[in-house]
Amino acid sequence: MSTTPHPSTDPSGTGPAVVEQDDVVRPTVANPIATPSAPAPDILRCASMELVVTDLAASRAFYVDLLGLIVTEEDENAIYLRTMEEFIHHNLVLRQGPVAAVAAFSYRVRTPEDVDRAEAWYQELGCRTERRKDGFVKGIGDSVRVEDPLGFPYEFFFEVEHVERLAWRYDLYGAGALVRLDHFNQVTPDVPRACRYMEDLGFRITEDISDSDGVEYAAWMRRKPTVHDTAMTGGNGPRMHHVAFATHEKHNIIYICDKMGALRMSDRIERGPGRHGVSNAFYLYVLDPDGHRVEIYTQDYYTGDPDNPVVRWDVHDNQRRDWWGNPVVPSWYTEASLVLDLDGNPKPVVDREDPSEMDVTIGADGFSYTRAGDDDGSYRGEAAKGFKLGNQL
Ligand SMILES: [Fe+2]
Repeated sequence: MSTTPHPSTDPSGTGPAVVEQDDVVRPTVANPIATPSAPAPDILRCASMELVVTDLAASRAFYVDLLGLIVTEEDENAIYLRTMEEFIHHNLVLRQGPVAAVAAFSYRVRTPEDVDRAEAWYQELGCRTERRKDGFVKGIGDSVRVEDPLGFPYEFFFEVEHVERLAWRYDLYGAGALVRLDHFNQVTPDVPRACRYMEDLGFRITEDISDSDGVEYAAWMRRKPTVHDTAMTGGNGPRMHHVAFATHEKHNIIYICDKMGALRMSDRIERGPGRHGVSNAFYLYVLDPDGHRVEIYTQDYYTGDPDNPVVRWDVHDNQRRDWWGNPVVPSWYTEASLVLDLDGNPKPVVDREDPSEMDVTIGADGFSYTRAGDDDGSYRGEAAKGFKLGNQL
């Protein structure tokens, strides 16, 4: 059946392009990662992150007392936390260590055999892998950790301890309750190269940000039927941009903002609250005591059909990152967390060679628009004075 060309959904005709998956044209990748002949593991979802923190008590206060994550288990070295709707042992491990960093981006796979498949798939790529039948952390059994071709510590597991799903325990809900782990966001220098590798691993791209020269600045990709399980953000990497937890409603996010204000913690609110263009989700970015960035996220859309169209945003669309056109703060583009190799050492950070999204949008008057073709790019030119188009630097 032929597909119908998609007019923009924006009444003024200037929104993102909506493209059928088969019609998406990606930049040529100069140094592509090989496609293994072995089958990829069947990944269910992003399931957990292991974060190394330098002051476990301070981090406990942030994630438990402020954000309300549930403690499944803890000892003097580590705290295992989960969200209200989770039935597996944890979604976040905080582990005391000397350098704040990410030790594992952990995915759950469909069967025990998929852990074997993950191990074989990465070994064929020549990546370092480590298999532990008893798991690397409490609550999770047979697992493999890998240093992936982009330099990230990825983990795959199936066996896991089940715990009480607290979804019906409204006696425990706080007003800002976090209900699910939603996604990771990774910083990597070459986004098209990362996309091609992740598609080989079985991910589907749902949205991206690019420009008319073919530069790709960021891409969102999913296994579960939401906008993403992880995103690749163009920048110096490998680094972790943020980990995101979902709330049920927008007002839960507003409550977290109010609570942080009341606790005189407004300086830990980095960006938002707001509505994303990409993903259509309502969002807030906060910084933990080590500077690890956490997003609170709600109400993106269903993407589970195999022919789910791809939404492509122009990097100069002033509403791509914030639907209301609010500027992105520079730290959001520049700051990110280190990631560790399998020995626990920080991975060296490689600079991005392509243009950076910050450089082509923040402070670059005339590069961003609210309505395509509008030279002023703003209401009566007022935004050019600085409050919309990003003269923060
Ligand atoms: Fe995010």
